[in-house]
Amino acid sequence: MSLTRLHIETFRNIDSASLQLGSGINLIYGHNGSGKTSILEAVYFLGMGRSFRSHLSQRVIQNHQDKLTLFANLVNDTRDYKIGFRRLRSGESEVKINGDRVKRLATLAETLPIQVITPESFSLLFEGPKSRRQFIDWGAFHSDNSFHHAWVNVKRILKQRNQLLKNESSYEQIQFWDKELVRYAQTVTEIRKRYVDSLNERLKGIIEEFLPQIDVKVSFTRGWDSKTDYQQLLQAQYSRDLAAGHTSSGPHKADLRLRVGTLPVQDALSRGQLKLLVCALRIAQGKLLKQQIDKNSIYLVDDLPSELDAKHRQLLLQQLSDTGAQILVTAIEPAAIVDSLNTPPTKVFHVEHGRVTVIE
Ligand SMILES: Nc1ncnc2c1ncn2[C@@H]1O[C@H](COP(=O)(O)OP(=O)(O)OP(=O)(O)O)[C@@H](O)[C@H]1O
Ligand SMILES: [Mg+2]
Repeated sequence: MSLTRLHIETFRNIDSASLQLGSGINLIYGHNGSGKTSILEAVYFLGMGRSFRSHLSQRVIQNHQDKLTLFANLVNDTRDYKIGFRRLRSGESEVKINGDRVKRLATLAETLPIQVITPESFSLLFEGPKSRRQFIDWGAFHSDNSFHHAWVNVKRILKQRNQLLKNESSYEQIQFWDKELVRYAQTVTEIRKRYVDSLNERLKGIIEEFLPQIDVKVSFTRGWDSKTDYQQLLQAQYSRDLAAGHTSSGPHKADLRLRVGTLPVQDALSRGQLKLLVCALRIAQGKLLKQQIDKNSIYLVDDLPSELDAKHRQLLLQQLSDTGAQILVTAIEPAAIVDSLNTPPTKVFHVEHGRVTVIE
């Protein structure tokens, strides 16, 4: 799966840009504020319908414009997709695949699995469990068709349950929902657990290369004590949940634990090592997806050289190339990437004040 053409209109500081992308490494370079991250953000927007930088999607629409438009051609071995995305300042958006309007944004995500590595990717390790859960669920979503439905239902039932708790409903009134919740929670948990197990197998070799002699352990926690039956736990915690006004345990509290020995990784590793660990996790995800459903991800790596020495840049670029995926990397100085590669990048683009030119 790769993008052959990307067209961007009135997106951040880019008035209009067309990029004919190559299948391997695409290097995008330019000064601070030229528009490099915005190009990656545009690709992400196509795949996810939102930004990886701001939760306010309207902010990416160019100032003084009323909409943004994105087009892309996407090819895999057997099919060719034309994807179009338009977002209005009023909040409406339109997604089209091969000319047909699609309702669910998930349809787009299935077509275009995207891996993002940015200097902010550290949040995966530092912030609360939410971003780590999203990391697991990216894989769960792509590797198992039944995940999306089960997870949507868990969220729906939890919302209803929490409303009942806020209304101080009796446990008899809640019990009906708990039966359903337990059923979906089990599906979600099984898929997530299976996924993290498979991921760990792929991860080992990559971590050995990126962080030799460091014993990194990655494990899954389901969101409640694994020895306790979830239905019984919900009943036992009813009074506590009633006082809190929400459900304290469940799949919405699942997490990925990252440790070196007994320490959380952020207390045991340097910044560069943490960056390498995040990259290892993302690369393992991409490789696993390829193995499981023969689908390549697209890697968006923003400011790849930052925090890394020459040797580790080289290792990272090598591992990324080994995935066989299409890669879009940005850097301020092109040499920081070119000097770390054995063969030149497939395509090189220079960005200046939102204008993109291809370097032959
Ligand atoms: N909605 C918008 N309309 C117009 N310009 C915008 C909008 N949002 C951001 N910008 C501008 O777009 C420019 C490009 O930002 P971008 O983050 O893509 O730069 P960059 O090349 O990644 O820079 P750096 O090397 O510092 O990371 C910035 O100067 C920013 O002020
Ligand atoms: Mg940037």
